[in-house]
Amino acid sequence: MAVLSLEAVWKRYGEHTVLRGVSLVVEKGEVLCIIGPSGSGKSTLLRCTACLEPFSGGIARLDGEILGYRLHGIKLYPLSSRALAAQRTEIGMVFQHFNLFANLSVLDNITLAPMLIRKLSRQQAEQKARQLLERVGLADKEKSFPAQLSGGQQQRVAIARALAMEPKVMLFDEPTSALDPELVDEVLVVIKDLAQEGMTMVVVTHEMAFAADVADHLIFMDDGVIVEEGKPISLLSNPSNERTRAFLRRFLQQNKAVFEEQAARSSFQALSPRESEKTRLGGQLEKATTSEDRSSKNKARRPVGEGYNQDDGSFTLGGHVQIIQTATEPKIQW
Ligand SMILES: Nc1ncnc2c1ncn2[C@@H]1O[C@H](COP(=O)(O)OP(=O)(O)O)[C@@H](O)[C@H]1O
Ligand SMILES: [Mg+2]
Repeated sequence: MAVLSLEAVWKRYGEHTVLRGVSLVVEKGEVLCIIGPSGSGKSTLLRCTACLEPFSGGIARLDGEILGYRLHGIKLYPLSSRALAAQRTEIGMVFQHFNLFANLSVLDNITLAPMLIRKLSRQQAEQKARQLLERVGLADKEKSFPAQLSGGQQQRVAIARALAMEPKVMLFDEPTSALDPELVDEVLVVIKDLAQEGMTMVVVTHEMAFAADVADHLIFMDDGVIVEEGKPISLLSNPSNERTRAFLRRFLQQNKAVFEEQAARSSFQALSPRESEKTRLGGQLEKATTSEDRSSKNKARRPVGEGYNQDDGSFTLGGHVQIIQTATEPKIQW
């Protein structure tokens, strides 16, 4: 059953057209990852889907309900601001820059919307918030303020805050791109955990290893259109479109320094992926292990982790996939 569907959606800002007829379907429990160059319209797509601003054309549906409009006869009428606000609460959004309320404690950040909008009592909201903090590995931080937390911790609070509204779908806009490299995995582990628990998600990301690992479906966007889509492995290993190939090539080139730094920094490469994850993330990973064991999707999930090999120019994804950098195009090997 489709939880989210976009049918030929367009977005224009004045003369500037940002989305040009994007269509996609996300089934219940499915993880859709979106990759693409900066400026291709990924954030706009998520913002409009989250009802933070309207599409200029096309139709978006959540659980069959049209977003932003009500259908009367054969005509669509814009929703009242109250109805729109209600619809917005069905969609969880996690931003690149966390966007926590700086003047509220971690606990208050999470309980605010459930109390105001879902009308939960403080006690109910706090009980739920504590469960969520436990789930994202931050049970001991409820009294902290955002400024007292690392970026990775703040992003995990932001995820807990979005989950507190029990959204039908979670949208992530490059949730790790503002983080220092060593904090990326602790956030990816939480998102992966959610995927394994069957949360329906759309994740815009530059973490190719993560996308290869967690996505059921991968979309490559450029210049406001879906250029190519498919199973992550086949799209990453055998892109059929020249624009996808060029993007992946550029991506590998641009991130070479990061991969080199990662390879030099840690000893985790010498360990098995599971061991390396444990080493790098400490207690967090115990959680990932358990959820992996109880994975409802029963898929062979691969751990997050990647490395760049200076000798042969290969880029290891999740310890299992290798993108081999060649003069013409990157190739992935399992
Ligand atoms: N509020 C806005 N007003 C005008 N142009 C915008 C606005 N938001 C985004 N854009 C433009 O839309 C294009 C796509 O932006 P964005 O969706 O942020 O891309 P991405 O997330 O893929 O980097 C860019 O050219 C950007 O300048
Ligand atoms: Mg963006």
